[in-house]
Amino acid sequence: MRRAIYPGSFDPVTNGHLDIIERGCKLFDEIIVSILVNPDKQPFFTLEERSEMLSEVLQNISQGNCTVRVDSFRGLLVNYAVAQQANVIVRGIRAISDYEYELQMALMNRRLEPGIETVFMMPAETYSYVSSRLVKEVFQLGGAITGLVPPVIERRMKEKMNQG
Ligand code: PNS
Repeated sequence: MRRAIYPGSFDPVTNGHLDIIERGCKLFDEIIVSILVNPDKQPFFTLEERSEMLSEVLQNISQGNCTVRVDSFRGLLVNYAVAQQANVIVRGIRAISDYEYELQMALMNRRLEPGIETVFMMPAETYSYVSSRLVKEVFQLGGAITGLVPPVIERRMKEKMNQG
């Protein structure tokens, strides 16, 4: 049983995240997409909203024989991975600029828990510049984000903005 954790903030989930999950499905039997609960950060979407949106969009991706489920975690990622009996952490790498930070995290996680491997995956080039942070910024400034997030996420962002 190859179980992997795909951790992140997913604020909100983008097409780049979904592309990584689809690719990960070719390698793993189960992927737990897990949202970090970070008390120090003020997210755009609440944990419940992010979880709900992920579950919704995951229904529309190609998963093959892989099971994908959504969860959340607090504290150290490696402790959570051990508790979930997962021995792989998946992270998407878009550009070299991502690599330095990801390498640091992967090596720190390896030091903390040598039994867990980090697997870096590359999204399709189309998504190589897409990040949740930029999607939110462009959206909040009135720019088009069509094609960068699933239509339902774009709709949820509009609703959220209109709420206040
Ligand atoms: O989507 P993000 O914000 O880039 O995800 C970052 C995440 C959640 C992978 C990272 O912040 C994390 O693992 N946080 C949990 C706390 C932890 O384990 N810190 C030590 C990492 S070396």
